[in-house]
Amino acid sequence: MVFWCQVVFGFGMQLILLLAVGLVLGQSAQTLASEAKYNYFRLPTALRPQKYDLKVTTHLDNPKDLRFEATVKILIEVLENTKNITLHAKNLTIAEDDIILKDTQGKKDNCVQSTEINTHHDFYVLNTCQELEAGSVYELTIPFASELNNQLEGYYRSSYKDPVTKRKRWLSITQFEPASARAAFPCFDEPNYKAPFIVTLGYHKNYTGLSNMPVKKITPNDQFPDYVWCEFEESVPMSTYLLAYSVNDFSHKPSTLPNSALFRTWARPNAIDQCDYAAEFGPKVLQYYEQLFGIKFPLPKIDQIAVPDFSAGAMENWGLVTYREIALLYSASYSSLADKQRVASVVAHELAHQWFGNLVTMKWWTDLWLNEGFATYVASLGVENINPEWRSMEQESLGNMLTIFRKDALESSHPISRPIEEVAEIAESFDQISYQKGSTVLRMMHMFLGEESFRFGLQQYLQKYSYKNAEQDNLWESLTQAAHKYRALPKSYDIKTIMDSWTLQTGYPVINVTRNYESNSAKLTQERYLLNTQIARAQRLGCWWIPLSYTTQGEQDFNNTAPKAWMECGKEGEIYPKTIQDLPGRDEWVIFNTQLSTLYKVNYDERNWRLLIETLTTGEFQRIHVLNRAQLIDDALYLAWTGDQNYEIAMRLLEYLQREREYLPWKSAFENLKRVGRIVRQTPNFEYFKRYMQKLITPIYLHLSGLNDTFSAIPEQDQVLLKTMVGNWACQYDVEDCVAVARKYYTQWQEEEKPDEKNPVPLNLRSIVYCTSIKHGNDADWQFLWARYVNSNVAAEKRTILTSLGCSREVWVLQRYLEMTYDSKDAIRKQDSMWAFQAVAFNEVGFHLAKTYFMDNVQAIYKFYHPITKDMSRLLLPFSEQVINQSDFDKFRNFVTINRPSLKGLEQALQQTLETMLTNVQWKERNYIQLSRSIQELL
Ligand SMILES: *[C@@H]1O[C@H](CO)[C@@H](O)[C@H](O)[C@H]1NC(C)=O
Ligand SMILES: *[C@@H]1O[C@H](CO)[C@@H](O)[C@H](O)[C@H]1NC(C)=O
Ligand SMILES: *[C@@H]1O[C@H](CO)[C@@H](O)[C@H](O)[C@H]1NC(C)=O
Ligand SMILES: *[C@@H]1O[C@H](CO)[C@@H](O)[C@H](O)[C@H]1NC(C)=O
Ligand SMILES: *[C@@H]1O[C@H](CO)[C@@H](O)[C@H](O)[C@H]1NC(C)=O
Ligand SMILES: *[C@@H]1O[C@H](CO)[C@@H](O)[C@H](O)[C@H]1NC(C)=O
Ligand SMILES: [Zn+2]
Repeated sequence: MVFWCQVVFGFGMQLILLLAVGLVLGQSAQTLASEAKYNYFRLPTALRPQKYDLKVTTHLDNPKDLRFEATVKILIEVLENTKNITLHAKNLTIAEDDIILKDTQGKKDNCVQSTEINTHHDFYVLNTCQELEAGSVYELTIPFASELNNQLEGYYRSSYKDPVTKRKRWLSITQFEPASARAAFPCFDEPNYKAPFIVTLGYHKNYTGLSNMPVKKITPNDQFPDYVWCEFEESVPMSTYLLAYSVNDFSHKPSTLPNSALFRTWARPNAIDQCDYAAEFGPKVLQYYEQLFGIKFPLPKIDQIAVPDFSAGAMENWGLVTYREIALLYSASYSSLADKQRVASVVAHELAHQWFGNLVTMKWWTDLWLNEGFATYVASLGVENINPEWRSMEQESLGNMLTIFRKDALESSHPISRPIEEVAEIAESFDQISYQKGSTVLRMMHMFLGEESFRFGLQQYLQKYSYKNAEQDNLWESLTQAAHKYRALPKSYDIKTIMDSWTLQTGYPVINVTRNYESNSAKLTQERYLLNTQIARAQRLGCWWIPLSYTTQGEQDFNNTAPKAWMECGKEGEIYPKTIQDLPGRDEWVIFNTQLSTLYKVNYDERNWRLLIETLTTGEFQRIHVLNRAQLIDDALYLAWTGDQNYEIAMRLLEYLQREREYLPWKSAFENLKRVGRIVRQTPNFEYFKRYMQKLITPIYLHLSGLNDTFSAIPEQDQVLLKTMVGNWACQYDVEDCVAVARKYYTQWQEEEKPDEKNPVPLNLRSIVYCTSIKHGNDADWQFLWARYVNSNVAAEKRTILTSLGCSREVWVLQRYLEMTYDSKDAIRKQDSMWAFQAVAFNEVGFHLAKTYFMDNVQAIYKFYHPITKDMSRLLLPFSEQVINQSDFDKFRNFVTINRPSLKGLEQALQQTLETMLTNVQWKERNYIQLSRSIQELL
């Protein structure tokens, strides 16, 4: 509820939202009060599970009746006297008459007198005949059954088509995080209840059973003909959300490095040749982590499996990691370099979780970022270590910051560490704030603490909390000790004080640097940076502990990222300005935040901006670190967007890009210009913007030989990414021969006799070539690509095609595509539908169709995605960036208010969408004319 109260839109918006939400919550709270007496969102603390013994029989033979039946035996320790056993269970058919409750010491008879259900919190309450006494241990046996659902959560079904028989093959798989173990078996489904698990799977002998641990023994199963029992070793103590099992007929590829766990990579048989890369990369990165953390991977084996239907990207189940196909499979002849890097990065992320998350788990979902922020940051260390030539550390660091600079500049953003009281809120927490901002503040700490103390602190933390749970204060404590031991921080500083300002507070600061050129000093002030410029000054108050690194034109030392000073805060968060002395004179610039180590924006006085622009545009630009070049572009364009700086300064700074040949500054520029472009392309002055973009892009396009296939001559991998990115923009803005060359490649492909086997389009240009050809082509071109989609066996290729099919400019083609995406023929898997929708909605012609389609069909769309509302919330992104008029904004806001019930679980995304729309409206009113003018001057 606090979350909603903080929103301040103009126009009395918050009132409407508050009322709507208040109503919904008020109602449900009332019904519940009469339903059950215990209505707290956490389990009672009277009991603790000591061990689970779970036996599941899975039936995959009848497609009309895919189901399982199971028994769970839980050893329960009684901590306080109680007369009930409350645990989680969701939509399971429980054989209540067969429940058995036994005192393990055999002292006392007991039984279950009655049961209750609390559907709001998924509680299943067993009221016992006798009181359970503290100190005793009970064994509770519950038989139950359910169907294998098709909702991609809990214990669910997935399928693939056998290429020979053309028949569907079924498999079963689990996805429990955050709160769906309860949909597969009754359990204490909170992360702090760690216990060992013994899993036994029953299934037809044609299949393979997999779980977290290695197989202990396989024995005949006399309940069903030709079935077996497959019993797995007892696991280490772990949280319920990390349990996993699957019954499938997949193939696998073993790969092991000396002295390491057995490593296997699984996929459907006709995709097994796409497992080589993950099988090679996985063990390497696992070994790197063992060294980095100083703790061996504790399980004897690890499996990674590519699941055809999967809602998230991947899931770190201990010893049995599950992935979307696109996140694990790699094909040398169909996947681009970016696809390959994504596989590496996701594998590295999931394996990092084996320590951060699995070995040491957050106490409660409030600290989800301890899992996700760490996995994200540690993964970039892992990838950098194994493939330094990718320069992925820099790319990820910048990419994360560009994302967060945007998201966290919204009033409706939230702190990294946030209170969680509803299951739906847990799911919403898996967002860019937990992942990317979490990772960004860890990188910041790494840079201000230095290698030794950061690493030592982490090792201490991991050792201390192994097989246990921790919260962020525990991490701060370990790091403070390490920092003081290695003298990385003054004794009077502690990590908690510094870091709480980053994890408990929403947003990030902008620092104003006002230099005094007479006294060679600068005065620094900070406030929260917000995109919504109508928000009152008081709302921008906030204080962050900021490590200040900087360098000057004379010094040009960008290597030193250690702080030369700190901006401190008072005990109550008071803001103190900071004065920096001994700066150079009026002819030299200073630049703050070397290598963009900390999450803040910098606004300089005009003279300093002009000095920087001079160095950039007179060809000395390489003296400024590449990350800081990206920073200057991003800061200048943001500050111009919010009216804190002139567009004239930003556009003059961009001029230097005509000589820039590195990936990061271009990435930063395109990210910003993309948003400007999405607005301006709906206005009469687009013509000038288009010509401006052509002028900006042409030199780099020619330098990279356009779309010509020069890839074998490019040694640097990040130049490959640059060429892909520039090509994409060049074709969008019709630069030079881009469209013609793209269409030529496409025609060549269409002329191939076996286009599914032979594709003459260079791998790293395919997304550009497909999209451009669909955009400028006809329905026959569209149908050709659709046929390739249907026949493709490679997830990465399928995704490229799905996205390109939305590039058409034919209204009827786009409308047909939208409808195909959600029809019942399953031509596009549910997990992929949002890509198709987004592709249409980001297209300037498709945008209006997609918006209408969404608004007209919101109930059906909600039903389609439920309960995976996360995917549905992604459909909103294209709207947020293209609604630019007050009246369209009002319409969308009304739509949201009226359709609350069909938008449940999307509250946070909707707020951010509405706020972003509002900032577009503001931008157009404030800056559109000014921008158009400064562009025309540059043409
Ligand atoms: C179950 O027992 C706990 C602990 O004694 C108690 O707090 C809770 O109210 C009980 N639940 C119900 C539904 O009676
Ligand atoms: C609950 O499970 C039954 C089958 O066991 C299924 O038919 C039903 O759709 C499920 N309900 C929900 C809300 O998932
Ligand atoms: C098991 O495999 C055999 C041999 O391939 C096949 O004949 C049989 O139909 C399969 N049975 C099931 C239930 O899949
Ligand atoms: C900074 O580091 C780079 C790479 O390690 C090195 O090549 C360069 O000489 C260093 N520059 C300074 C000023 O120390
Ligand atoms: C920073 O500078 C901007 C633009 O000059 C000004 O609007 C803002 O009030 C300043 N903020 C602080 C905290 O001094
Ligand atoms: C691509 O190659 C063709 C043929 O060699 C050449 O004419 C054209 O100028 C090249 N395009 C670019 C952008 O380099
Ligand atoms: Zn993760």
